[in-house]
Amino acid sequence: MDMSSFLKAIPKVSLHLHLMGSIQAATVVDLAKKHGVSLPDFDEPEDLYDYPDIYKFLHMYDNSALAIVDRDDFRRIAYETLAEAAEHNVRYREMFFNPTTHMAAGVPYETAVDGLIDGIRDAESDHGIVCRLIAAVNRMETPELAMTMVDTLVEHPRAEVIGIGMDYAEGEFPPERFWKAYRLAKANGLRLTAHASEDAPPRNIETCLDLLGCERIDHGYHVIESEAIMQRCVDEEVVFTCTPVSTAWVYFGDDLANHPIKTMAARGIKLMLDCDDPPMFKTNPSKDFILAAEHMGFGPADFRRFMLNGIDGCWVDDSTKAAWRTSYAADFDALAAQLDA
Ligand code: ADE
Ligand code: ZN
Repeated sequence: MDMSSFLKAIPKVSLHLHLMGSIQAATVVDLAKKHGVSLPDFDEPEDLYDYPDIYKFLHMYDNSALAIVDRDDFRRIAYETLAEAAEHNVRYREMFFNPTTHMAAGVPYETAVDGLIDGIRDAESDHGIVCRLIAAVNRMETPELAMTMVDTLVEHPRAEVIGIGMDYAEGEFPPERFWKAYRLAKANGLRLTAHASEDAPPRNIETCLDLLGCERIDHGYHVIESEAIMQRCVDEEVVFTCTPVSTAWVYFGDDLANHPIKTMAARGIKLMLDCDDPPMFKTNPSKDFILAAEHMGFGPADFRRFMLNGIDGCWVDDSTKAAWRTSYAADFDALAAQLDA
């Protein structure tokens, strides 16, 4: 078996994937037609995922949300991304969605979340993949809106919604603005993660760990600029969810060989790999692995470790994690035995 087929076949958990970034362009255009919505800046699938910087890219998110209106739309987009993930042997995913983006587009929270849950259930029964949801704070919005988001989650509890995260552009919108929303989420039994130090100093990682109480760090690439923070994260075994392809284009000269993930792994950061916004960056759950192998020199032992790191980072109970460690490792090793020499 060649390396690419091997990396496609190995079992995977997925902890860093955004619903809005996972929709095929043709589906957005199809749903826009269904609802007679004209997307302000984009009409053709070819135009949709073409952008020069992160602000235009995030603008595309908000634009596409205008096409996702009813419960069945949410079912469809959740189902499609999970069915695709299952083809890459993703067995478990914790997926970000932005309730306030959809609420701003006029969609009640229950419509969005219950549609997503319909899609999650259908994908589990058709493809065996299990998915849970992380409601993400749009950090470019206000701390008050983040509180409203958490209040909404608490008013409409769903077993599938297990935590909160934080996404959108970090530079001018540091994490400390949202400590109250994180406190409220924790008090209500929700798990906590945040995008931190994707494009901002490593200090944001400590803010997320210490002030917000985050259990994982999404991205975290600038950790390599602080020996002290890096050592702390290694010692505390903080799980980092890293996405090579979606971050190379804008932050690291579009060159995966320069990506900090390589240094992070070498220094012992407990990281796992995922694909962030797959169709928007022309990637998929195995392509990020394949390109990381080709450009960063990772081999089977690295991918085995990343897989187990991901399981450690999952928000499931300890007995489930222990069972997954055993079964994933056995399946991984059986595939590794078939790798071409
Ligand atoms: N939303 C989707 N992908 C993102 C990223 N890489 N950074 C911030 N917000 C995002
Ligand atoms: Zn992300």
